[in-house]
Amino acid sequence: RVNEQWDEAKLLDDPSIQEAAALIQQGRLVAFPTETVYGLGANARSGEAVTSIFTAKGRPSDNPLIVHIADTSALDDWAEMPSQGTTLLQRFWPGPLTLVIRHKGTLAQETTAGLTTVGVRIPSHPVARALLRCAAVPVAAPSANRSGRPSPTTAEHVWQDLAGRIDGIVDGGMTGVGVESTVVDVTGEVPVLLRPGGITLDQLRSVVGEVQVDPGLEREGEVPRSPGMKYRHYAPHGQMWLVAGSGDKQRTKVKQLANEAIQQGKRVAILTTVENKDAYPTGHVLSLGSRENPASVAQGLYAALRTCDDIGVDIIYAEAFPVEGLYHSVMNRLLKAAEGRIIID
Ligand code: TXA
Ligand code: MG
Repeated sequence: RVNEQWDEAKLLDDPSIQEAAALIQQGRLVAFPTETVYGLGANARSGEAVTSIFTAKGRPSDNPLIVHIADTSALDDWAEMPSQGTTLLQRFWPGPLTLVIRHKGTLAQETTAGLTTVGVRIPSHPVARALLRCAAVPVAAPSANRSGRPSPTTAEHVWQDLAGRIDGIVDGGMTGVGVESTVVDVTGEVPVLLRPGGITLDQLRSVVGEVQVDPGLEREGEVPRSPGMKYRHYAPHGQMWLVAGSGDKQRTKVKQLANEAIQQGKRVAILTTVENKDAYPTGHVLSLGSRENPASVAQGLYAALRTCDDIGVDIIYAEAFPVEGLYHSVMNRLLKAAEGRIIID
């Protein structure tokens, strides 16, 4: 447990950070908080260490990992940053943006899953930054969940999924953004959004102008260019349905569906917001955050999905959000959790 209120400089002297950094240098696995979600870190130069990440998570080995660094000083040793990438990183690093760029073949092949490109980011969380600075190696870190579970936003979530399978967890409290980083491929002429996340499309476009959206992200049947987007993610055990719309109409529909399911003897969860939660008299009503504040909804999303599994519900009805700003990422994760099931009337 470290004091996440401390700044990076003070955290550098924290014995937990130093112990965690030493473990990473020894080729072991340590989970740590970032501003998005908890990551499971290992030395990105060690094939053996990175292989053990895939084993601990039960992750398919063709899904590459994001490499985390404290600053760009040593980046040239193992990758090439194109000019569009430089423009984006000057604005958004440190922060929840991952840039996919060409690598030079000096990282472990397991880190990049044999691709010619690598995803890189500098996180902004002081605990992550202190750990990366102390470890002084590039750190490969996927989200610290078992494959197929929601990403962890607390150290307890990491413990639930990975206790006994990893060497340590640095507990820095709850993460801020709550959804993963935005992944952008900058190897071509026009940047391509591969995964929506903590940085919105509008934010990206305000800096580099045109940004394409990977067609595999939006359309059924297309193969996503980010290997991780093709896997079934975040799916809770209960069957989840998104309910489109807004206001009274949406609430009435959710209420009606929940009542019908309860009458059939099903255990029902409703994913809603603080504004609407009192509208539902039945079912396990879980508020993600405030509808007026997309950042609060993103922050609460994964914990709510985990709660659905903890309670053990059969069916989950989730209010949909307008696909804009940070809700683009929230809806991307909700649709995955619902395996694309959405009720539109
Ligand atoms: O916020 C985050 O990004 C968190 C924290 C820990 O930094 N990490 C994270 O990692 O979400 P992970 O492994 O769960 O997701 C990485 C995503 C996957 O969809 C993967 O396929 C994609 O990034 N990715 C990584 N390298 C890539 C590459 N070279 N080309 C295309 N996609 C890549
Ligand atoms: Mg993940």
